[in-house]
Amino acid sequence: MKDDIKEVLFSEDQIREKVKEIGKQISKDYRGKDLLLIGVLKGSVPFMADLIKEIDIPCSIDFMAVSSYGNSSTTSGVVRILKDLDFEIEDKHVLIVEDIIDTGTTLRYLVDYLKGRKPASIEIAALLNKPERRMVQIDAKYVGFKAADFFLVGYGLDYAEKYRNLPYVGILKEEVYK
Ligand code: IMP
Ligand code: MG
Repeated sequence: MKDDIKEVLFSEDQIREKVKEIGKQISKDYRGKDLLLIGVLKGSVPFMADLIKEIDIPCSIDFMAVSSYGNSSTTSGVVRILKDLDFEIEDKHVLIVEDIIDTGTTLRYLVDYLKGRKPASIEIAALLNKPERRMVQIDAKYVGFKAADFFLVGYGLDYAEKYRNLPYVGILKEEVYK
């Protein structure tokens, strides 16, 4: 697995520190509020697991699974819901937890979809952001790291469902996917 990584972009230590920081800020911002974190399966799993341990106010968690229609190179803006929420979100302060914001399509769709269910507020926490790749407008309240336009794997991010278990975020060697 390690041999397929060209360069480690964000180390285990760097991620741990950043997640701690974000957790602290969320705890401060949402104190006294009914906070619900919604993880987007499956990429958000490591981030979600580490983040909730750094949040020291009461909160609940739920998960959604989505997939984009069509092939990955066309962005139709349509996202298919594979697994919806288990509970209602009305009047809750929703924080969507995602691995990375790339074109922004997935989160734009999710935010609009969930807004229809009348949450008290809705915000995004993303570990990574690739602003150069943005095709639709989306703002994340919490972002871990800004990354350039490389294909990244690890800490939840996959290539063909592999590499999610790497403890760091790295650039995948081009020969692996070309
Ligand atoms: P968006 O809808 O284009 O913002 O895409 C978001 C989704 O694309 C993320 O949740 C990831 O699953 C996937 N993705 C985007 N960039 C990468 C990457 O560099 N490595 C792995 N997955 C990525
Ligand atoms: Mg994802």
